[in-house]
Amino acid sequence: MKNVAVIGAGTMGNGIAHVFAQNGYTVVLVDVAAAQLERAVQTIEKNLDRQLAKAIITPQQKEEALRNITTATSVETGVAAANLVVEAATENESVKLELFKKIDAVAPQGCILATNTSSISITKIASVTQRQERVIGMHFMNPVPVMQLVEVINGYATSDAVSETIVALSKKLGKIPALANDYPGFVANRILMPMINEAIYSLYEGVAKVDAIDTIMKLGMAHPMGPLQLADFIGLDVCLSILTVLHNGFGNPKYAPCPLLVNMVASGKRGVKSGEGFYSYSHGTKELVV
Ligand code: NAI
Repeated sequence: MKNVAVIGAGTMGNGIAHVFAQNGYTVVLVDVAAAQLERAVQTIEKNLDRQLAKAIITPQQKEEALRNITTATSVETGVAAANLVVEAATENESVKLELFKKIDAVAPQGCILATNTSSISITKIASVTQRQERVIGMHFMNPVPVMQLVEVINGYATSDAVSETIVALSKKLGKIPALANDYPGFVANRILMPMINEAIYSLYEGVAKVDAIDTIMKLGMAHPMGPLQLADFIGLDVCLSILTVLHNGFGNPKYAPCPLLVNMVASGKRGVKSGEGFYSYSHGTKELVV
């Protein structure tokens, strides 16, 4: 396996491309938006510089990583020579189903199709392809170059051989894989999202202010950051999509997204990527906005 296509150059796509390129894989990063591709390459360069400053990589390794990445705005071009596709486009079921139909039609026969989805059914995504046994969840964590975990999710039809390949590949990337089966939210988000939603409910119901909620969870539970700040980092739109999948998938009201989250997303507050969420990021500082 040498050639990787990463579809979607947002928060996760740039990190996934970075990690593959840094480990010697040839990466084509694909996005419908050319501006996103430009931003992604700038982010990768900035993050490589950070690694360089910390002596995690050498200047040659930085140059090699950058040389390993090319960009494309068409899926057809991007996946033409791929041995592996990692899809990291918007967390929206119809977007992913459309994409997988298209990718399946143009990707080489033996190519494995992985999705970085946080919560959408791997089995459903696989069902629109002619290679269900070669479709799998490869769920990286944010920020990808830093976080060690890859949650590997086997769909109903994923073959053992493909699952083993992705586990081995994750290790080659310096990550630690953990296996899960395909149920709503898998493991990571089934447990994380109810906590984030409860933090938003605590704010919505006036139990405490943003900084108090985050301080209590950070210091009280020894979490590296509070749940509201984490939600901003994940993206409030992504959190809302995941909670909606959990709510629909289990039919249990405990997963219903907090109305405050729904309103914030509707008004364009999507967290770090839009410059504003529970905190403001517009001037590079963490100012309270709620
Ligand atoms: P994002 O909103 O930052 O980026 C999504 C990108 O996909 C955008 O650049 C958009 O232009 C592009 N896109 C949309 N439709 C496309 C198409 N048809 N073809 C090519 N590109 C397309 O989203 P983010 O946060 O990077 O999430 C991507 C995936 O990763 C989602 O499935 C999400 O659930 C998952 N994920 C997100 C995490 C996070 O912390 N944000 C953590 C782990 C997984």
